[in-house]
Amino acid sequence: MNLENKTVFITGASSGIGKSIAELLADQGCKIILASRSADKLERISESLPCPSMVVKMDLADTKSVHQAFKSLTPEFSAIDILVNCGGVMPLSYLKNRHLDEWLQTIEVNVKGSLRCIYEVLPNMQEQKSGHIINIASVDGKELYKGGAVYGASKAAIIALSKAMRMELSPEFNIRVTAIEPGTVDTSLREDITDKELLEDKDYGEDEPKLNSDDIARAVLYALQQPQGVNVNELLIKPTGKS
Ligand SMILES: NC(=O)c1ccc[n+]([C@@H]2O[C@H](COP(=O)([O-])OP(=O)(O)OC[C@H]3O[C@@H](n4cnc5c(N)ncnc54)[C@H](OP(=O)(O)O)[C@@H]3O)[C@@H](O)[C@H]2O)c1
Repeated sequence: MNLENKTVFITGASSGIGKSIAELLADQGCKIILASRSADKLERISESLPCPSMVVKMDLADTKSVHQAFKSLTPEFSAIDILVNCGGVMPLSYLKNRHLDEWLQTIEVNVKGSLRCIYEVLPNMQEQKSGHIINIASVDGKELYKGGAVYGASKAAIIALSKAMRMELSPEFNIRVTAIEPGTVDTSLREDITDKELLEDKDYGEDEPKLNSDDIARAVLYALQQPQGVNVNELLIKPTGKS
């Protein structure tokens, strides 16, 4: 499928995986909307893209903020063909250490933030009877571990949601939905972790094989480039050497 002139809304576009997706899709001739809380970072990325692009500041944890961001799109960018739900947090912690605010923020951003964006793009996709929603989930939604309870639950929710979205939205509205499930990717995501005990126990050192953000962007591109009759349901990607 030719992605030229497709309008793409990317959350979490200020760094890591979202930024790489923006850069790769810009090379395909897409029109890119970059969204996150960091307008300065987004402006710098926008200036470097070889395509029409627009920056919107929004907090995924806040329904009003997300709604305002979509309302602020200029006519050139308002008919969204592709939504990439990439914004997310990962403040891993042991349940026994009771990091309630972080648990709630994880659900607020990773799950409810994705729902807020899906809510905003559905009317246009339903009307044009086409669209593609890419949900960046995680292998942690399938393979649980101590310290990853709430983050894993948030990503399991996204994987389940993606499946149900395909059931409801694909037959009637021709909307494709893909869940991308990366293993460890070398980004700043682990800086969210404040649980000292977990940080002392877990080794996030250089020895661990890691993917890079571009690896995930290529997976997104693969799903988007398939013919309209092909819906890549899920892609689970791990670094070579990890089973
Ligand atoms: N890195 C990994 O190992 C890995 C593995 C599997 C899945 N993932 C998933 O990949 C996605 C991207 O993460 P990353 O690894 O690229 O990490 P990252 O570089 O830290 O990016 C996280 C992005 O989420 C945005 N974000 C966080 N809280 C937000 C909020 N309240 N409102 C709006 N935007 C918010 C951040 O933007 P601002 O701070 O500018 O708002 C940033 O752009 C996440 O969903 C993550 O769960 C990552």
